Amino acid sequence: MRKLVYYIATTLDGFIAGPDGFWPIPEDYIQHLVTEYPETLPAPARAALSVTAQGTHFDTVLEGRRSYEIGLKAGITDAYPHLRHLVFSRTLTESPDPAVELVAGDPVDKVRQLKQEDGEDIWLVGGAELAGALYGEIDQLILKMAPLTIGAGIPLFSHKAAFDPRGWKLSGHTVLDSGAAFVTYARATGPDTPATGN
Ligand SMILES: NC(=O)c1ccc[n+]([C@@H]2O[C@H](COP(=O)([O-])OP(=O)(O)OC[C@H]3O[C@@H](n4cnc5c(N)ncnc54)[C@H](OP(=O)(O)O)[C@@H]3O)[C@@H](O)[C@H]2O)c1
Repeated sequence: MRKLVYYIATTLDGFIAGPDGFWPIPEDYIQHLVTEYPETLPAPARAALSVTAQGTHFDTVLEGRRSYEIGLKAGITDAYPHLRHLVFSRTLTESPDPAVELVAGDPVDKVRQLKQEDGEDIWLVGGAELAGALYGEIDQLILKMAPLTIGAGIPLFSHKAAFDPRGWKLSGHTVLDSGAAFVTYARATGPDTPATGN
């Protein structure tokens, strides 16, 4: 069955964005995306870098409305035209782009339905609130860790997410010269099997 993968850029202290947006990223980090995860580059970046590769990881991307609107404010109605693109919102009434599917219902129900369909894995792009709503459905984490701490910002999972410890098994890692690290973890416990510990 295809997996839900939270593939997300994070600081060492677990923030996906600062109060004013993203942080600077090392050059070799971009090159790693181009080589390994070309499908996760938004269309303007793919065009600027002359990337045409379809990629091998994902064919579907899920976004929360606030993350989606970052591109929208820059006039980009579909940053991922090379992927099936779903945006979760209970307030948007009409999709700004015919290729972008608006989902007003429960993200958990939608993800369970998507997992039953054939295809590559499903990329949960974020942000924190949507990731918090889908916390129990995430099968794999790919943390793109910048060698940076920022002290405050938006965490990996929204503060609205419930306290729910889960174990993860390291399944891969790539450390770049800059100190950026791509670290992959598979869920070690089932969604209904809480990890124990103290
Ligand atoms: N580091 C990275 O790789 C990365 C990736 C993506 C985003 N980000 C950052 O993340 C930040 C945005 O994250 P965020 O947590 O503020 O917002 P978000 O998760 O992107 O979007 C939140 C919105 O998604 C919709 N939503 C969330 N849960 C839902 C549910 N259960 N059912 C239906 N709709 C639901 C709601 O839209 P409505 O209010 O319309 O109902 C909600 O307001 C930005 O700063 C962005 O830069 C970072």
